[in-house]
Amino acid sequence: MGMYIINGGNRLDGELHIEGSKNAVLPILAASIINGRQSVIHNVPYLKDVKTMIDVLETIGCTCSFEGDTVIVNSVGDLDINIPEKPVREMRSSIILMGVMLGRFKKVKISFPGGCEIGLRPIDLHLTGLRLLGAKIVESHGYILCECDKLYGNEIHLDYPSVGATENIMLAAVSAEGVTIIQNAAREPEIVDLQNFLNKMGAKITGAGSSTIKIEGVKKFHDAEHTVIPDRIVAGTYSVAAAITQGRIVIRDIIPEHIKPILLKLEESGCKINRYDSDIVISSSGRHNAIDIIKTMPYPGFPTDMQAQMMALMCTAKGTSIFIETIFENRYKHAEELIKMGADIKIEGRAAIVKGVNNLMGAHVFSKDLRGGAALVLAALAADGTTIVDNVDTHIERGYENMDLKLKSLGADITKEK
Ligand code: UD1
Repeated sequence: MGMYIINGGNRLDGELHIEGSKNAVLPILAASIINGRQSVIHNVPYLKDVKTMIDVLETIGCTCSFEGDTVIVNSVGDLDINIPEKPVREMRSSIILMGVMLGRFKKVKISFPGGCEIGLRPIDLHLTGLRLLGAKIVESHGYILCECDKLYGNEIHLDYPSVGATENIMLAAVSAEGVTIIQNAAREPEIVDLQNFLNKMGAKITGAGSSTIKIEGVKKFHDAEHTVIPDRIVAGTYSVAAAITQGRIVIRDIIPEHIKPILLKLEESGCKINRYDSDIVISSSGRHNAIDIIKTMPYPGFPTDMQAQMMALMCTAKGTSIFIETIFENRYKHAEELIKMGADIKIEGRAAIVKGVNNLMGAHVFSKDLRGGAALVLAALAADGTTIVDNVDTHIERGYENMDLKLKSLGADITKEK
């Protein structure tokens, strides 16, 4: 399962390049099926989830190569419309292959994504959207079979701005006949990156980044080359690493605007941040201020994917902070592990009340999901003594490239054991 052994107390100091965004590259890799040709994708992070998506593409018949940070996908010819079950059960985001395959092959069979460590995560909005484009969808024995003679553009109002549903609908609608309008669409930067990639292969999409996205279906696509945006959650996580160790980190190759909601909260807690075009310098000294309320919201609100890391920081702040998790109903599993390290946290439904303590203590803790695992690493960097963070292969390494080596390069005392 892999574990990090961390001796806390070192102040982090140095600079760091931020890798490409996991949540942007996964739909982009799926989208590379659409053109039936070659896609060259740069700034791809070397992560477990990315490798899983590439495995799926290869299993259904694409040819892929991954050299340096560039992935080349060739999706020429007929592909298998049966998406292998194991990766879909392991990685929920493979569900976005539905829209892609339906658009190009008019048929796809995919297993129902299994339960999830951070909540129920239904896919009703995905299915409703695809049905409105003309898909016939049958769910039976754990599988979803989607078929259509043709997809037709339509007006789709999402009940909730779901990231995955917005992407799935975009990925199908690019090949539909006519115009699709998605209202109440997700506005995350990863949606904009997907629009930019699809447009490079010939799609006609406008409006991504706003609540209304317009997609004019087209008949032909061509080769595409694209550089993935930097990972805003990784950048946010290392910003918290600077804050929690009272260090100073130059975070390079990012889009500061994408992490604005995170930086504002860090400034409220007392960090000093200088912003440049594609870098920030974050430094911190002394005990942090508590933050009255941190409420997770769809972009551009405070991201749910940073809730756990910010909670690690608030564990030793001066005073009481309240978290309200509005996106996922079961995303406080890191709290029980932080409590093992001496944190004072009470969970009440969707709220977590965190009373700052003087210091955290090393303990043997278990990462139970990707971002919660990262939060435990952050807490360990600041804790007295030694912390063992377990299950890092299963969770943390799904979304952070060489986290141990990057932290070590900044001065952390961290080693990985199998
Ligand atoms: C994506 C991100 C994830 C992030 C989340 C919210 C990827 C690969 N993952 O996940 O890191 O935490 O956005 O920013 O990009 N919902 C429904 N029905 C649906 C779809 C969603 O009820 O059909 C609910 C979910 O259960 C959840 C909420 O909507 O409570 C948000 O989900 P969504 O925005 O779809 O997140 P994901 O795309 O799964």
